[in-house]
Amino acid sequence: MDRFVIEGGTALRGRVEISGAKNSALPVLAACLLTDQPVILHRIPRVKDIRTMMDLLIHMGMSLENGETGAVTVRAGSSLQPEAPYEVVKTMRASSLVLGPLVGRYGRARVSLPGGCAIGARPIDLHMRGLEQLGAKIEQTHGYIEATAPEGLRGAVVHFDRITVTGTEDIIMAAVLARGETVIENAAREPEVVDLSDLLRKMGAEIEGAGTSTIRIRGVKHLTGAEHTIIADRIEAGTFAIGAAITGGDVEVVGCVPEHLTALTAKLRKAGAEVTEPAPSVLRVRGTGRLLSEDIVTEEHPGFPTDLQAQYMSLMTQAEGIAIVSERIFENRFMHAPELVRMGASIRIDGRQAIVAGPRRLTGAHVMASDLRASASLVLAGLVAKGETIVDRVYHMDRGYEKIESKLAGLGARIRRTQ
Ligand code: EPZ
Repeated sequence: MDRFVIEGGTALRGRVEISGAKNSALPVLAACLLTDQPVILHRIPRVKDIRTMMDLLIHMGMSLENGETGAVTVRAGSSLQPEAPYEVVKTMRASSLVLGPLVGRYGRARVSLPGGCAIGARPIDLHMRGLEQLGAKIEQTHGYIEATAPEGLRGAVVHFDRITVTGTEDIIMAAVLARGETVIENAAREPEVVDLSDLLRKMGAEIEGAGTSTIRIRGVKHLTGAEHTIIADRIEAGTFAIGAAITGGDVEVVGCVPEHLTALTAKLRKAGAEVTEPAPSVLRVRGTGRLLSEDIVTEEHPGFPTDLQAQYMSLMTQAEGIAIVSERIFENRFMHAPELVRMGASIRIDGRQAIVAGPRRLTGAHVMASDLRASASLVLAGLVAKGETIVDRVYHMDRGYEKIESKLAGLGARIRRTQ
């Protein structure tokens, strides 16, 4: 099982190129199920979760071809098996993103119920309620969801009691071929929802309001192929921005979308980092040698992203004062905290809040990653800790960060991967 060995104490300096967003590429790949024509996708990140989604599509009968420029062409095969088996879904719960397109286009889907994961129970009840409102019949048997809509889906008003990113994406993909109009209320406003909608519109879908809380979809008869470039990964960009601030470095994050990161950059500025935009799609973050504690509350976009909470907590261990980190999205997303404490941080968990007192000198330690973003927070802590840090179970990080150790080494970090 791979691990990272990190020698702390070097400031990150230089330029780093951001990859395509994993959390956009996942629904975009699932959307290819909605047409029998080829879809050409650029900037698909080479990370584990994407390979899992590709394997799932191939298992169902789709064909995927890697072009020499890194583009991926996705084609429907001659016959499609509308099923997402447990063996796949248990490794990646985002497989539930095939539900909407399968029911929307094929009138049936058999998808294993995703189990919980380290950060929470993460049910998909809102996805299923939404599909029922569009006329699907949903049964749960033997750990699988059996969804059928023999007469096809019909447009409806789908109101989400709670904002759900992949729930919104699932229902958009179910509604694009439904009869009539669908209105999604209390929709997620994440940039990845907008990116999915941009692809679907290129395929001929009629969608308005993506990026707002109310999305209108008018069903069409069929969708064509298209060509699309995935947006930049704002969480990867935010992770490097925090890396520059925590190490007192000077990093240009290139090929990102600064307006997708305003909640983070506002906090970094208040915490004392210098954040500028020297050019379009470039964010420059410089540590100024002094960090001040700043509270955060994780919220749906455009609020502070829960996927940057762990990384930000590492930063606050180096800031002067007390920072209260409130996690409002997931019920168990502080597993990085005890590992940071083992490195010398002062963090007290009180329900959904972590109270971080700083600055504390961190010392390198042997730590274990528990989930994708927790692993990023431990790596960031290792970069600033005195001595050597070993991070176990970096397969978590490989799920969502492309070539992370070479990108960090390119910025001067002393990090290597070992067995
Ligand atoms: C997406 O997960 C992201 N994954 C997550 O990123 C991200 O943390 C999350 O949105 C929140 O921003 C992808 O886009 C593939 P939700 P998702 O449905 O859609 C509850 C990463 O690190 N809920 O918005 O699964 C749920 O339990 C990953 O890249 C229900 O109760 O998240 C959670 O508390 C981690 N019932 C809250 O809503 C449902 O049917 C928000 O979840 C659905 C969700």
